[in-house]
Amino acid sequence: MAKKVQFVETVLRDANQSLIATRLPFEKFEPMLETIDKAGFYAAECWGGATFDVCLRYLNEDPWERLRKIRAKMPNTKLQMLLRGQNVLGYAHYPDDFVKLFVQKAVENGIDVIRIFDALNDVNNLKVAMEATVKAGAIASGTISYTTSPVHTHAKYVQMVKELKEMGASTICIKDMAGIMGPQEAYDLVSAIKDAVDMPIDLHTHSTTGLAFMTYLKAVEAGCDIIDTAISPFSGGTSQPATETLAYALRQLGYQVDLDDEATTAMSDYFKGVRDEFVKDGTLMPKAMATDTQCLTYQVPGGMLSNLMSQLKQMNALDKFEEALAETPKVRADMGYPPLVTPTSQMVGVQAVRNVLDGQRYKTVSKEIKAYCRGEYGETPAPINPEIQKMILGNEQPLTTRYADSLAPIVEPTRQKLGDLAKSDEDVLSYIAFPNLAEKFFEERKAKEENCVTYTITEA
Ligand code: CO
Repeated sequence: MAKKVQFVETVLRDANQSLIATRLPFEKFEPMLETIDKAGFYAAECWGGATFDVCLRYLNEDPWERLRKIRAKMPNTKLQMLLRGQNVLGYAHYPDDFVKLFVQKAVENGIDVIRIFDALNDVNNLKVAMEATVKAGAIASGTISYTTSPVHTHAKYVQMVKELKEMGASTICIKDMAGIMGPQEAYDLVSAIKDAVDMPIDLHTHSTTGLAFMTYLKAVEAGCDIIDTAISPFSGGTSQPATETLAYALRQLGYQVDLDDEATTAMSDYFKGVRDEFVKDGTLMPKAMATDTQCLTYQVPGGMLSNLMSQLKQMNALDKFEEALAETPKVRADMGYPPLVTPTSQMVGVQAVRNVLDGQRYKTVSKEIKAYCRGEYGETPAPINPEIQKMILGNEQPLTTRYADSLAPIVEPTRQKLGDLAKSDEDVLSYIAFPNLAEKFFEERKAKEENCVTYTITEA
């Protein structure tokens, strides 16, 4: 019997985030939700990541309401979200009560699959979110943030997978956020995980370097069960490879692909128009659609290269680019080889620039790097260079316990503080995640409601 390969469609989240900075408003994709629901995807990734922040900051949408509206129009497809472990959707670690309630409410509002990752692959940062997901009755997808370094061996990844299984993961996701995983690496890693555990594996990559199609094919050959793709008009470049192309190629190779071609064609026709609007207004830049192999040469994710460049430009020091680029892997090694993903990519990049511009390494250190050296981000893949850690911390001792254990509960005090301004637990959660944005949103909502009331009275 032909092996079945399933697809996660990313147009609503990762493709949207990678190509157009998550600026897709609900009404722009609403007409396609029923069609996406009919297409036969394993799941539609539609929430979490940057969507929450952008809904409040730029789109004047309540992210919770968006989720409920998607759910109502897509009763048959699993809805998936991306969650940064103990960081939830933000950049700092939150207390456990917030993580638990957030997960519970996400599931209550319609989420079926939560993909949970940590920038350092520290499973202690995944545990609370994983357990809350299982408790809420959703699928916990335990995630490896993929990177390469002398300490990131297959044995270590397999060990992590076993720990994730222990914590209640029912699927494993290999998340190659930089698109640096090649076909042979995919084949070997998927094989190693499949040999160790009998669990569905989902591979997530980006087309940035052009490897993605080849990487997916070899991963599938090794037994990968689910791949992440984007409908063609929102595919390629910094996004995922195209859904229809992979369906075509995999069928030709004899795999079973249960996608409804009529539905994917309708999606493709519709999203072409949406894409063209974002090209016209300049949101979708040609750079995002291009293939960029620089990250293969430098082993630095594409987004980091452009950040380095813009930082140096601001400081009038673009001539130091090569030097800063060479310094980046050294800082990463000093920091114990963290995978370069938000927030570690920014922290390492900024430090590399400082080391070069100061002409002395670690002369100035950001408060984030200091917190990192204190252990607030969790256990690093390899120990931090002890001399540098001592130089940064002075007499301060690094943490020996999980940082979140030292944080006081936040939900109840915030509920009290907000009073009437918050209409639900969801509001309280939005406020804890993004206080300024949420407060502004609540006030505008209140003003709108009052206007409506006045209007009704006048009319009566
Ligand atoms: Co991604």
